[in-house]
Amino acid sequence: MSLINGTTATAEDPDSKSKPITPWELRTEFSHHDPTIARINNGSFGCCPASIMAAQQRYQLLFLRQPDYFYFHTLKPSILRTRLLIQTLINADNVDEVSIVDNATTAAAIVLQHTTWSFFSSLFQAGDAVLILHYAYGAVKKSVQAYISRAGGHVIEVHLPFPVKSSSEIVSEFRKALQMGKANGRKIRLAVIDHITSMPSVIIPVKELVRMCRDEGVDRIFIDGAHAIGNVEIDVKDIGADFYTSNLHKWMFCPPAVAFLYCKMCDDLSDLHHPVVSHEYGNGLAIESSWTGTRDYSPQLVLPEVMEFLSRFDGGIEGIMRRNHETVVEMAQMLVEAWGTELGAPPEMCSSMAMVGMPVCLGVTSGSDALKLRKHLRECFKVEVPIYYRALVEGEIDPITGYARISHQVYNVVEDYYRLRDAVNKLVKDGFTCALLYK
Ligand SMILES: Cc1ncc(COP(=O)(O)O)c(C=O)c1O
Repeated sequence: MSLINGTTATAEDPDSKSKPITPWELRTEFSHHDPTIARINNGSFGCCPASIMAAQQRYQLLFLRQPDYFYFHTLKPSILRTRLLIQTLINADNVDEVSIVDNATTAAAIVLQHTTWSFFSSLFQAGDAVLILHYAYGAVKKSVQAYISRAGGHVIEVHLPFPVKSSSEIVSEFRKALQMGKANGRKIRLAVIDHITSMPSVIIPVKELVRMCRDEGVDRIFIDGAHAIGNVEIDVKDIGADFYTSNLHKWMFCPPAVAFLYCKMCDDLSDLHHPVVSHEYGNGLAIESSWTGTRDYSPQLVLPEVMEFLSRFDGGIEGIMRRNHETVVEMAQMLVEAWGTELGAPPEMCSSMAMVGMPVCLGVTSGSDALKLRKHLRECFKVEVPIYYRALVEGEIDPITGYARISHQVYNVVEDYYRLRDAVNKLVKDGFTCALLYK
């Protein structure tokens, strides 16, 4: 038996790998999940089936049994195999456009470091701008601060409405921000746009926003699609941005940590570098990224096994995405009905995650209340769900300020959502408010 092609942990019958997954096999694939927790937060850290963890272990063993052979003969071709699969999945023209990195945070560092050098080499001038969404992921905002503000760049934040009624609200706010940003002749050098924002979570109409950026002369566009692959369709050619990243460990069943960074072919591609410099420096970003020093590369190698896993579901990854979306919307609607609240975004703007308004009487009045409520739900009701605090807008009377971001992934069952529903109903019945919670 070859170590790479060995049988999976769950598949006692060697042929089962190509057969539709049974409900029992599905439960077994996720039997390492804490059975006491209703885990409706796939969004934060994703999940990894047992058969993929077993494949990962086989690669780890392959390295440890003969590291030199692995380094000289196995690693690069295996990473290339992953890059070729990603190229097909995202419809990139050329495999050289696809690099494998640890996570979206690393991808952001690569793009922002590249932008910083444009400031240092005087291609960009102090005061030129980088535009990001107000709802950009916190770590990415900090990276913009660390790389761009320090280099003398100006940062424009695009405020987006939430709750949101339609994509056109986002398009119109973005247009306003672009035009205001360009006032006084300021040049916008880079736009960082989320494909699916993290908190609050909504699908952003990236294709329209990219087109608008091009029309307005924005130099470079980076799409942060950390939540996208395995969750919504990605067609990098159709989207048309210069850079696109997505985590494979969130919705694509890979173990942590692995992501891809797509960089559209262009003249200055050779000036993109991995922030961790090693032997491959100067050989192109994809090759630089394939060796950043001695470490565990196994998460980057299991994509073929993941594709096999996906093929066992009706409709493959497209079928999974469709059912996750439909079910999360159904569960979100069940919850808003039970709580007498509203969704934060219409169904077509929900991915496999949805924002569910929580009863106003819970008194979520700050980000810290939202965190405390999340902890309370975890500790007292065994529900894992992130809570979003939406700040009051002047003049609003009794608005919803707390939203639960629910996720749906293949391992979820309807009882997970009932547990959240019943927990919140009990809190309401008992007269609970966040103000009563311990610090
Ligand atoms: C929109 C967005 N960008 C970037 C990240 C960072 O991902 P990672 O921690 O895997 O680097 C996340 C994580 O949730 C995210 O939601």
